[in-house]
Amino acid sequence: MNRVYIKTYGCQMNERDSEAVAAMLRGRGYSIVAEEAEADVVLLNTCSVRDQAEQKAIGKAGHLARRKKKDPNFMIGVMGCMAQNRGNDLLDKLPDLDLLVGTQKFHAVPDHLDNLIASLQGQGPRPATLVDLAEEAGSQNTIRDHVPDQRQVSAFVSIMQGCNMKCSYCIVPKTRGEERGRPIDDIVAEVEELAAKGTREVTLLGQIVNQYGIREFPFADGKSPFVQLLERVNEVPGIERIRFTSPHPSGFKQDLIDCYGRLDKLCEYIHFPMQSGSNRILKEMRRPYTIEKFRRILDAMRERCPDLYISTDVIVGFPGETEEDFALTREAFEQIGFDMAFIFKYSVRPDTTAAPLGDPISAEIKDARNKELLEILQQSSLRRNTSLVGTTQEVLVEGPAKRGEGMYLGRTRGYRKVVFPGSERLVGELVPVEIDEATVTTLTGRLVLAGV
Ligand code: SAH
Ligand code: SF4
Ligand code: F3S
Repeated sequence: MNRVYIKTYGCQMNERDSEAVAAMLRGRGYSIVAEEAEADVVLLNTCSVRDQAEQKAIGKAGHLARRKKKDPNFMIGVMGCMAQNRGNDLLDKLPDLDLLVGTQKFHAVPDHLDNLIASLQGQGPRPATLVDLAEEAGSQNTIRDHVPDQRQVSAFVSIMQGCNMKCSYCIVPKTRGEERGRPIDDIVAEVEELAAKGTREVTLLGQIVNQYGIREFPFADGKSPFVQLLERVNEVPGIERIRFTSPHPSGFKQDLIDCYGRLDKLCEYIHFPMQSGSNRILKEMRRPYTIEKFRRILDAMRERCPDLYISTDVIVGFPGETEEDFALTREAFEQIGFDMAFIFKYSVRPDTTAAPLGDPISAEIKDARNKELLEILQQSSLRRNTSLVGTTQEVLVEGPAKRGEGMYLGRTRGYRKVVFPGSERLVGELVPVEIDEATVTTLTGRLVLAGV
């Protein structure tokens, strides 16, 4: 009864939450299995950010319910954002769920599973679905465990939970609650533990990382709590690279820009969500910046760090997005030259402030706009990758490449994927790789041997 399979939808925060649940379950004697078919319990960690994400998880849970009909001891749990967002209503659609756990209660999953199993084994009444969607003060401090005997070359560290912004299209403030930061010392201790186990790269996670601790912790020497945190993480021996996601243009001040080049481990890469190139649409989205401000921040960063790699998030087809608005997004795409981007088609989220606007832009127009941006992106990404051919890049080796054949996968400081002939002993090492070939997504090269 103790084999658990966890399937994760959604963002890196969800991946991190799933990992923490897995670690906590392992600590209780459960085993985490890699195949769904081998599991006694399947937990779905869900996302509500777009309708498609919800539909996928609902479809999956429906499918699992059929297995439960044949094997009544099999258990299904739904955790995370969709559980929080849809709550008990979800049970009308999915009456066979054993467990429904919200975003502030991941740490309660082991207790809940223990109880469910005990009642299945006749030591208590078999409950209806166990529902735990409550808010909990301090829940941001419960996502700290990492799977013990497993080395992660690159690891996620959640530094905060929740979001206080009110972007009109977004469900996250509802699913994740108020913004709450973890104490700096706790985060640094987690990073130190990871480093001791062989982690070389950390990505600090939050909905708006540069707002980290802004209400809880003081500024020091004009530096925000987030900059203070970066400085501390930069001092952790063994950590070679620091990334974070996502920052927001609001409150992205000089103290953070100055970190580039000053903190040697902070990589020359930033994920900086733009959402739209049209000020009118940004206003409708309730994103409190103009495209000019967004670009000024990037210009200042590029001035400080000419090698900067930039990725972004964009939504196409927000209600009322005209051809003129979209042309401004396209123009920003062309002029900024993003190295990576996530382009999303607008999806109405019930109960958000944009919901009453409906979804007036047709699927065809959204598709066409999506495709246009993708083409620009592919060109700028290929241009940047091609410019690296013939150079030697510092690559952090993550593991064997999918294609096998003795090829290994790593990333540059700019987060470009590099594939090269390697060996297991290089995993976790920083190695020089000379780049021979470039595609839109991947660089191929070979190790530069020391002393040759
Ligand atoms: N906190 C981050 C974003 C988290 S959600 C930030 O503000 O930068 C990740 C991305 O999903 C968003 O940046 C946005 O581009 C996209 N997204 C959010 N809600 C959406 C919706 N209703 N439809 C389409 N895309 C959406
Ligand atoms: Fe959503 Fe906006 Fe918060 Fe990002 S900043 S999570 S887009 S409400
Ligand atoms: Fe989705 Fe929740 Fe992340 S809605 S994007 S899993 S915070």
